[in-house]
Amino acid sequence: MNLDELNKVAQAMVAPGKGILAADESSGTIKKRFDAIGVESTEDNRRDYREMMFRTAEAMKNNISGVILYDETIWQKAKDGTPLVELIKKAGSIPGIKVDEGTQPLPNCPGELITVGLDKLAGRLTKYYEQGARFAKWRGVIDIGPGKPSYTCVSANAHALARYAALCQQAQIVPIVEPEVLMDGDHNIDTCYQVTEWVLKETFQQLYYQKVALEGIVLKPNMAIAGKKSAKQASVQEVAEKTVRMLKNCVPGAVPGIAFLSGGQSDEDATAHLDAMNKIGNLPWHLTFSYGRALQAAPQKAWSGKAGNVGAAQSAFAHRAKMNGLASLGQWKADLEKKAA
Ligand code: 13P
Repeated sequence: MNLDELNKVAQAMVAPGKGILAADESSGTIKKRFDAIGVESTEDNRRDYREMMFRTAEAMKNNISGVILYDETIWQKAKDGTPLVELIKKAGSIPGIKVDEGTQPLPNCPGELITVGLDKLAGRLTKYYEQGARFAKWRGVIDIGPGKPSYTCVSANAHALARYAALCQQAQIVPIVEPEVLMDGDHNIDTCYQVTEWVLKETFQQLYYQKVALEGIVLKPNMAIAGKKSAKQASVQEVAEKTVRMLKNCVPGAVPGIAFLSGGQSDEDATAHLDAMNKIGNLPWHLTFSYGRALQAAPQKAWSGKAGNVGAAQSAFAHRAKMNGLASLGQWKADLEKKAA
């Protein structure tokens, strides 16, 4: 393993003004997104949709440091025959790959999940590296509810994340370590804070036990935020302050960067929260985005599967990428959204 090289890639992933496009929806998830805009989820439609984003030159060059791909996409070619991985590289961005194989019920823990995919991971990573991937992603899922999360669920997912991260570094691939505490419940922000703090501490303990070099990872956490069904939603400033405090208590300064997931926040909330954190400043790591829905909801709607809408969809994608790029610098303003609308 060459740690300097891993660190260089990790630094590039969280470079100022840039963040990551999470375009790694599994076939099941992308079908849900396409259903919502009335598009059939065929291999060609999935390709056309993602090619549209990767060809948004301005966004890719200025604001998108890397793209997380799904297995199908990393082997796909654009309509003109160019491999999609080459399109991404030519646009100045780094190709990455989701390597977990989804979740399964965790035995003895009703309603809880464990992420799977470790068994043949070493061999798969070698092939992905040859195909151009320089970073990877694995997502552990933690739900908050009555009796949840259990210690079993938190520790088993932390253990799997660390096993994955060690295998990635051995294959010269930067692991994005993503322990996601879901925001689906009716819990308040302080419950989310406490659970996320626990999850992060367990995760970093496992990374240490499994000898993962922190200079060569990127952390992808949720923010400290109230559940969607909670009657008491926290202000932008409260989310920013509590998230920064939580991270400072859990994430060593050796980690080059933290790239948040959006987790179901509205586009503008996800941007405003990131911006408010960077406005606090004086942070030991770069704070940026690794958004799926918060970057793609607008372009998906604008595209709606019609070739004639590609221009409008690219504008919508470029706008969100630019807004989040500004947020990664703490330079976003709410009226920039209105001007674009
Ligand atoms: P969201 O930003 O839509 O949560 O997706 C990010 C991601 O990669 C989840 O694993």
